[in-house]
Amino acid sequence: MEEPQGPTVSPGGAEPSATFLPSLEEWARSTAGRLLAELPRRWAHSQGVARKAEDVALALEPADRPMLIAAAWLHDIGYAAVLRKCGLHPLDGARYLAALGVPGRVCGLVAHHSGAASVAALMGLGHQLAEFPDERGPVRDALWYCDLTTSPDGLPVSLRTRTVELCARRGPDDPVVRALADNGAERAGAVRRTESLLCPVLSGQNRDSGHGRRNG
Ligand SMILES: [Fe+2]
Repeated sequence: MEEPQGPTVSPGGAEPSATFLPSLEEWARSTAGRLLAELPRRWAHSQGVARKAEDVALALEPADRPMLIAAAWLHDIGYAAVLRKCGLHPLDGARYLAALGVPGRVCGLVAHHSGAASVAALMGLGHQLAEFPDERGPVRDALWYCDLTTSPDGLPVSLRTRTVELCARRGPDDPVVRALADNGAERAGAVRRTESLLCPVLSGQNRDSGHGRRNG
């Protein structure tokens, strides 16, 4: 498979700089679409996560919104065969992005999404994942929320439905399923905190428009 094209990265610097045109979010969308073209169901899921992130971002600080939306588009690119190295898709994806000069926050969000640290520990990759910072805040919670309430086909679901489906699809021996014993409460906490964050936004919109938001 042909290696995907990235942004222009200035050579030789310890802190690579890159230009993402027309915007980081657009670059993220087109990059994820190209990398996941071979995995249509994963691409459908990523589109659903990103649609939800575009809505959820309205509850975040303006400077944080592009970070969430870009990370939502990119969070599962590590499943692409061309990026697969260690087999832990958050780490494979984050390393690819870091090498292209993608902002460190986006790389960290991708690396640690949805409880990846617990999975990494089970796979003996904890120290390698720790190369990336885990910001542990509302943007990180929001990315987990968007991922954990979107089905493999990109449809909105509850955390419970998503978790039941995950266990059935992967089986009890899969590290992602085994890790639920460690990260299940943290996953639920991220969803709960983001839902609380969204309440004022949703009620405000309902008051203004008389309609509920679309359930992305
Ligand atoms: Fe995902």
